[in-house]
Amino acid sequence: MTERRKSIHGSWSGRLAFVLAATGSAVGLGNIWKFPYIAGENGGGAFVLVYLVCIATIGIPIMMAEVMLGRRGRQSPINTMRTLAEEAGASHIWRYLGWMGVLAGFLILSYYSVIAGWALAYVFRAASGMFHGATAEGVLSIFGQFTGDPEKLLAWHTLFMVMTMIVVARGVRSGLERAVRFLVPGLFVLLLMLDGYALASGAFDQGLRFLFTPDFSKITANGVLIAMGHAFFTLSLGMGAIMVYGSYLPERTSIARTSITIAVLDTLVAMLAGMAIFPLVFLNGLEPGAGPGLIFQTLPLAFGHMPGGALFGALFFVLLVFAAWTSAISLIEPAVAWLVENKGMTRVHASVFAGIVTWATGLLTVFSFNLWSGFRPLSFISIFRNYTVFDLLDYLTANIMLPLGGFFIAVFAAWVMKRDDSVQELDMGDGAAYRLWYGLVRYVTPAAVLLVFLNVTGLVDFSDLLGMAK
Ligand code: PFF
Repeated sequence: MTERRKSIHGSWSGRLAFVLAATGSAVGLGNIWKFPYIAGENGGGAFVLVYLVCIATIGIPIMMAEVMLGRRGRQSPINTMRTLAEEAGASHIWRYLGWMGVLAGFLILSYYSVIAGWALAYVFRAASGMFHGATAEGVLSIFGQFTGDPEKLLAWHTLFMVMTMIVVARGVRSGLERAVRFLVPGLFVLLLMLDGYALASGAFDQGLRFLFTPDFSKITANGVLIAMGHAFFTLSLGMGAIMVYGSYLPERTSIARTSITIAVLDTLVAMLAGMAIFPLVFLNGLEPGAGPGLIFQTLPLAFGHMPGGALFGALFFVLLVFAAWTSAISLIEPAVAWLVENKGMTRVHASVFAGIVTWATGLLTVFSFNLWSGFRPLSFISIFRNYTVFDLLDYLTANIMLPLGGFFIAVFAAWVMKRDDSVQELDMGDGAAYRLWYGLVRYVTPAAVLLVFLNVTGLVDFSDLLGMAK
C-alpha cells in the first residue's frame, strides 16, 4: 500500500536524518525555557513525576502513531488525514484534525518566536560581558528593562521569524539536517557544564529535592493538565509536526525504536536543564515560580561568576536559539506543506505568507510583557486570574489543543484505521510490543486525556485519591 504513495516535498536522506530532525523539533525552548518555569510554578516533584509518566504512557505511543500516519499518508497532515480516512472508509471530517494542528502550530509559533527573540538578544548581552559579576537584582532589572520595551522585543521577534522563514523556504534537506548534527551534542555539553557549576554551587541537593521529591499536596488539577500538556508540547505532538516529518521518512525505518530514542533525548535535555537551574534559584534566593523569565534571570548569574562566562554564556544562548530554530521550522511546516499541495504556491511563497501571518499574531505576545502586562482578559475564571494574553495563548495551545489533537490521533490510529494497516505500517510484527502500543493508544491515551480534562473542569475529582491540592 505505502509503496504507492510518495511525498512531493522530498524525503530525509535516511533514518539518522529523521531522528535528528525530529529531535530538533522536540528539543527546543520547551525543554530549557518552559520546563523549568512551569515545574517551578507547579511545585516541583509531583509535577515532574506526572510529566514523566505522561511521556512514557502517552507521549511515546502518540509519537509512534503520528509518525505512522504521516508515513502512510505522505502529505501535509490535512491531506494525510483525508487520504487515510478515505482508505479506512471513514468520514472526511477527519481532515479537520489536520486543520486544528495547523492552527495550533501557527499560534504556538507566534509566541515561540518572541521568546526565541529573547534568547537571540541574550547572546549579545552575554557576549558583551553585561552579566560580569552580576547580582540577582542586577539580572532581574536587565530582564525587566528588556521585556518592558516593545520595540526591542519586536525587533528580535522579527529577526527570528525571518530566520525561520529562510530555512523553511529552502526545503526539507538543506540546512536543517546539518544544523541538528552539531546542535544536540553541543547542547548536551553546555548543559552538562552548567550542571557541573550547579553541582559545585552548594545548593545542588536542594535543587534535586525540589525536582524529584513528589509532594502531591503541592499540585492542583490544573497542574496535572499543565504537566500533560507539556508532555505533548515538548515532544511536538498533537498538531501534525511529527506527522509531517514522518511523511518524509523512508520506508523500513523502525518507528518504535526511533520514537523512543527521540523521547529519551528530549527528556534528558529537560532534566539537565532543570538540574542546572533550580540550585541557582535557591542559592540566590530567587523564586522557583518566577514565571517565563526564570532562565533569563538565573543563568546570567552563573555566567556572570564563572571563568570564561561571557564566552560560555554567549555559546549557550546561541545553542538555545538553534534549538528554538529547529523547532520553529516544524511548527510551520504542516501549513507550508498544505499551501504547496492545495494552493499551488511555491515553498518560498508559502513560507513568506505563513510567516507574515504568524509574525503579526506575535504582537499579542510582545505586548503581553509591556503595554498590556496588566491586562487579564479572563480574570473572572479563577485558574486564569493572573493570565496575560501570552499566558492564555500558551494555555490554549499546549494544554487544550495539543492534548485534544493527541486524543483524536489516538482514536484514529486505534479505532478508525484498520488494525492490519497499523500492523503493516509499524512493521514490528503482531507480538507483545505491538499489542502494548495498541492497548495504550486505544484505551490509555484517550482515557487519560479525557480524565485530566474532566478533572480540571471539576466534573471528575481525583484530588482526594492522590492527596492533591485543591
Ligand atoms: N517541542 C518544542 C519544544 O519543546 O520547544 C515545541 C514544539 C515544536 C511544539 C513543534 C509543538 C510542535 F509541533
